[in-house]
This record gives sequence, C-alpha cells and structure tokens, in this order.
Amino acid sequence: MAFIVAIDGPAGTGKGTVTKILAKRNGFIYIDTGAMYRCVTLECINRGILPNETKKINEVLENIDIKLMPDSVVFLNGKDVSEEIRTPNVDKFVAKFAELKEVRDKLTPIQQAMGKNADVIMEGRDIGTVVFPNADVKIFLDCALEERANRRYKQNLEKGIEQSYQEVLKAIVERHRLETEREIAPLTKTEDAILVDSTDMTIEEVVNTIEEVIRRKNND
Ligand code: DC
Repeated sequence: MAFIVAIDGPAGTGKGTVTKILAKRNGFIYIDTGAMYRCVTLECINRGILPNETKKINEVLENIDIKLMPDSVVFLNGKDVSEEIRTPNVDKFVAKFAELKEVRDKLTPIQQAMGKNADVIMEGRDIGTVVFPNADVKIFLDCALEERANRRYKQNLEKGIEQSYQEVLKAIVERHRLETEREIAPLTKTEDAILVDSTDMTIEEVVNTIEEVIRRKNND
C-alpha cells in the first residue's frame, strides 16, 4: 500500500520548500498540485481565455498535457514553463481558475492516480480534504499573513521580480479570500490534520516537526 502525506495550507507558508526537503529525506515522490493549477491558468492566459469562458476552458482541459518532473521542472504541452508559471501575472489569476469545477474535476483524478502505486508527499489546498481524505499523514501548514507576504516579497526579489511589499500583501490577502471562501474544495483544516504554524519557525524546524509525525505514523 502506498503511503500518502498530505500537506495543505495557504501560499507563503514555506510549504513548497518544506515538502521538497521532506520528499528527498524520506524517499517520497514530491507532487506540487499548485503547479498543475498554474499550468491551466498559464495556458488560458496565453490564449486570452477568461475564467468565465467555460467552453473554451473545457477545450484547453481536453488537450492539456502537464508533466511534473524532478527538481520542480514543469512541462506544459511539451514546453518548460517552470519559471513562467510562477510570475505575478499567473499569481493574480490562478485562484480564479482554480475555483472552477471543470478545472478541479480534471486535475483531482490525475492527482489521485499519482498516489496509487507510489509513496507520495503532495502539497496543495485540498489534499487532505478531497484528493486523499484517507491520507496516512495530514498536515495543515499555517503562518501569519504579514510573514507570508514578507517571505513572498523576498522570494520575488531573489527572482528579480519587482513588486512592492504592499502589492504582495494585497495579492496574498485576495488569494487567501478566494481560496478559503470558494464553493468547491475550499482551503480548510480537517479535524484529523495536524496544525503546524511556521510563523516563528525555521524551515529546518518545520521539516523536523513533520518528519516526527511521519515517523510516529510509520511506527504505528
Ligand atoms: O501552491 P500554489 O500557490 O502554487 O497554488 C497556486 C494556486 O492553485 C492557489 O491559488 C490555489 C490553487 N490550488 C488549489 O486550489 N488546490 C490545490 N490542491 C493546489 C493549489
């Protein structure tokens, strides 16, 4: 039986970094489901499709080919889009596409299939609630809003993306609202998920905390 670790939480909690380290150290396959929603969004933006153009979105979904490769490399329809999917423009629109039923109905089964025969650690918003409600370990990684904005602001600077702290904070607040208030698969902590608040923790501390939870579960 495959062992599934679900890591959910909002943007800017360090989820991606932590999940990647945990995957490497514990021999799990790392799956970034946000990258898949970003690919759909990028393809729609590139074709000038708006979130309310359901028919056109369905056409995109019918033919879309997303490949998650090692080291966070992402291919969309045969092209490396690893950087393009993480620009502020995709950030701005992704929650609008991610809330659509059509989009979620397409991506959720693909994610479920990925965890069928392999030990995976999967990060996203609805992994413990919808994708793998029976995951072996469920973590809800949280962090104070201002600290999340601060981290994203610094990440952007490192990538050479110019956006003021205020703009980053505003974008994070808006995305958080959309992700938690949407009708389908909203971001929420299930009762059986373990809450880890990373606000005052280093990456190493968060990794160690989650690793301990995995170890305990493995020894059950
Ligand atoms: O984790 P991220 O910031 O790369 O995610 C991008 C967007 O995709 C985010 O706005 C929420 C959405 N998402 C989702 O709705 N469900 C998931 N399982 C993963 C991401």
